Amino acid sequence: MTFSLENRTAVITGGASGIGESCARLMHERGAKIIIADLNLKQAEKIAKDLRGLAFEIDVRDPDSINALAEQIDNDIGPVDILVTSAGITQLPVPAEELTVDVWDSVQEVDLRGTWLSAVAFGKSMIKQGKGCVVTIASITASRSVPVHSYAAAKRGVASMTESLAADWGRSGIRVNCISPGFTLTPLLKSLVERKERDGKLMKADTALGRFVEPKEIAQAAAFLASDEAAAITGINLNVDCGWLVSTSWHTYGGIRPPRS
Ligand SMILES: NC(=O)c1ccc[n+]([C@@H]2O[C@H](COP(=O)([O-])OP(=O)(O)OC[C@H]3O[C@@H](n4cnc5c(N)ncnc54)[C@H](O)[C@@H]3O)[C@@H](O)[C@H]2O)c1
Repeated sequence: MTFSLENRTAVITGGASGIGESCARLMHERGAKIIIADLNLKQAEKIAKDLRGLAFEIDVRDPDSINALAEQIDNDIGPVDILVTSAGITQLPVPAEELTVDVWDSVQEVDLRGTWLSAVAFGKSMIKQGKGCVVTIASITASRSVPVHSYAAAKRGVASMTESLAADWGRSGIRVNCISPGFTLTPLLKSLVERKERDGKLMKADTALGRFVEPKEIAQAAAFLASDEAAAITGINLNVDCGWLVSTSWHTYGGIRPPRS
């Protein structure tokens, strides 16, 4: 089943790579006009060219940058129907006392503040037109205790703001939903595994399905949430994680059982 996004304009922060890029490609396939907003303008332009869309350089940490873009799109291109907030960075898993304030702050600034600023900048113009749909990107780390202290706190904040924005803007015709990806094979994760900063084998072994999530599988969930098929869905946090959240506690019992024939 496919969900049409014909005649929609979708802005995707972090759309130059990974999950954001997959969302841009799939939403384009489903008929949406794509606007990629990313720190990496060169890569954003390359993808936007492929999709006959537009690319803009933004820094989601900077309210002036994001507000100016929202205004420019509103004035020159027209109303935005869909916002996906995929711009994000991660951190190394380190003991709390070794996490520097600089690292703590940089993760909070991009992942938490950046998501908030993006949602509010584009939410304002959605309020004016009385409709719109925001899909935020949190993480499974929002729901479990993990040794990435700043990242997990920021992502829990994203899931929380999704709920409060959904309640605040529902009567204005705006739906706000969150996707929490599990370990997804994007350039970000691939490089962490290659640099041995994450154990790829363990990540897969700890999921019910025994594999990584593909970026396209996050995009499929985002396209569904952005479509009319999800018209009654707002304020949810949809875990797309190959069953990591339901499997990790099985470690104590010897791990996930092998397949039965
Ligand atoms: N890959 C995973 O396993 C995974 C799991 C859970 C959550 N996530 C989340 O999904 C989102 C996308 O991750 P990804 O794996 O696709 O990463 P990625 O590194 O492939 O893409 C992130 C994009 O965000 C852009 N970006 C970074 N900082 C920015 C800023 N300040 N302003 C504007 N753009 C900025 C980057 O240029 C890049 O294009 C992130 O929020 C990440 O936390 C990823």
